[in-house]
Amino acid sequence: MPTPHIRAERGQIARRVIMPGDPRRAERIARDYLDDAVLVTDVRGILGFTGTWEGRPVTAMASGMGGPSITIYATELAREYGVEQIVRVGTAGAMRADVAVRDVVIATGAHTDSSTMASRIPGVHFSHVADFSLARAAVAEAERLAAEVTVHAGQVFTSDHFYLERPALSDALAAHGTLAVEMEAAALYAVGAAERIRTLAIVTISDHLLTGESMTAEERESQFGTAVRVALAL
Ligand code: HPA
Repeated sequence: MPTPHIRAERGQIARRVIMPGDPRRAERIARDYLDDAVLVTDVRGILGFTGTWEGRPVTAMASGMGGPSITIYATELAREYGVEQIVRVGTAGAMRADVAVRDVVIATGAHTDSSTMASRIPGVHFSHVADFSLARAAVAEAERLAAEVTVHAGQVFTSDHFYLERPALSDALAAHGTLAVEMEAAALYAVGAAERIRTLAIVTISDHLLTGESMTAEERESQFGTAVRVALAL
């Protein structure tokens, strides 16, 4: 029963999904971590692979970039494929001096100024939060796994812009404790609330808004092993 954006049959998608933005990261997760991974969808180049990890079925499928894109895939996965859990593994820009490139941020909540979310319940400043049990398990797993990587848990900012510089906004968000900026977490959490599925975003810091430091495209593709290992354990 394919959907407009996913060509898999219903049984071909696992109940647990790991969701990077980039289709090549989905392919890399399938290749490096999953056993018996099979390509189950490639509509618009958004690749999805289903296999097993430690004997448990899991699908690694890309979201594309931005709130509208992840909203489409997450909603179709929940409604049409019976998916119960989606963990985004993505990249983000650090907004504070105490967060460094290559650190991992477990997004317990996500601020946003995206109109995508404002239109869900007009007039309400909706609280975009991760599933509590998933976030708690992710923090525990990250502490167990990642002696070599610094892991933070807290708020991110989900932006509709990658290139628009808004220094006053960034300063205010950082002053309110926001750790990093990315483009999908709030939208994923809104789908989690609307569709009653468990959602979490774990992001690896790929660039720094204060220092200008940034990972290369190649590093962006490869430097997210900790986030993936945490996500697979959930
Ligand atoms: N802004 C928005 N999204 C991002 C960034 C950024 O600086 N880095 C990685 N994802």
